[in-house]
Amino acid sequence: MAGTIVYMEDVTVDFSGFKALNRVNFFIDKGELRFLIGPNGAGKTTLLDVICGKVRPEKGRVVFGDDTDILRLSEHRIARCGISRKFQTPSIFANLTVFENMELSLKRKRGIFSSLFYTMNSKDMHKIFSTFEVVGLKGEAHQKAGSLSHGQKQWLELAMTIIQEPMLLLVDEPVAGMTGKERSRTGEILMEIAKEKSVLVVEHDMNFVRHFARKVTVLHEGGILCEGTFEHVKNDPVVIDVYLGRGGEEKEDALS
Ligand SMILES: Nc1ncnc2c1ncn2[C@@H]1O[C@H](COP(=O)(O)OP(=O)(O)OP(=O)(O)O)[C@@H](O)[C@H]1O
Ligand SMILES: [Mg+2]
Repeated sequence: MAGTIVYMEDVTVDFSGFKALNRVNFFIDKGELRFLIGPNGAGKTTLLDVICGKVRPEKGRVVFGDDTDILRLSEHRIARCGISRKFQTPSIFANLTVFENMELSLKRKRGIFSSLFYTMNSKDMHKIFSTFEVVGLKGEAHQKAGSLSHGQKQWLELAMTIIQEPMLLLVDEPVAGMTGKERSRTGEILMEIAKEKSVLVVEHDMNFVRHFARKVTVLHEGGILCEGTFEHVKNDPVVIDVYLGRGGEEKEDALS
């Protein structure tokens, strides 16, 4: 899998004079699991918003895959091209079972008209259960989604996103509100997903990032500050100064 999955060049997002992103150059390789970190208000969520078409930059270029110009496409078309976003608040249907939620997600991919005449075939059934294997929800398939734990709901949401077969998955703060065990499990799930897809994860939990990140990008005041392995960025004096705090090691431990 050679080449970049998404490529941003000189991207500026201006909110009434405030530059949430300021001339950002950023790219992710195909098959990469990338972590994006940085202080509150750094522009992390805005960067995800630009990639999925929710926010339009004033300036710059964003290319998906070999030559798809994202800035010319609607949010809906971008999703159909293969970019999926998992939002923090789960959008699952609490009164439906875990399986039924997955069925709905498959239908959504087909669009309204073809989904009207849709009947589940064995291939789709297999797809749903193999996705359950990835997120560990096989045993909960026939349980109401509303009865799942907070972590399980997030995993169901991830499952509903990946069954739509995106090429790039964007995830904003996936472990917020989770227990330690749920965090580890989420990291394993993201690594499993990244075997087949490119994944961009925004996260504040340094312990989580330390365990699961291969390459980390640090954003600060709308610009990229540093990029590299966790060890590399954690020892960068500027990163320590603006994000981890002076004596970054203590701050990092406090976050874990
Ligand atoms: N729609 C908007 N209108 C005006 N300002 C905005 C808008 N969205 C974000 N901002 C501002 O842009 C800056 C970057 O916001 P963003 O949400 O991308 O930060 P973040 O890095 O995700 O922060 P956090 O870690 O707190 O989630 C912030 O100062 C925010 O207040
Ligand atoms: Mg954010």
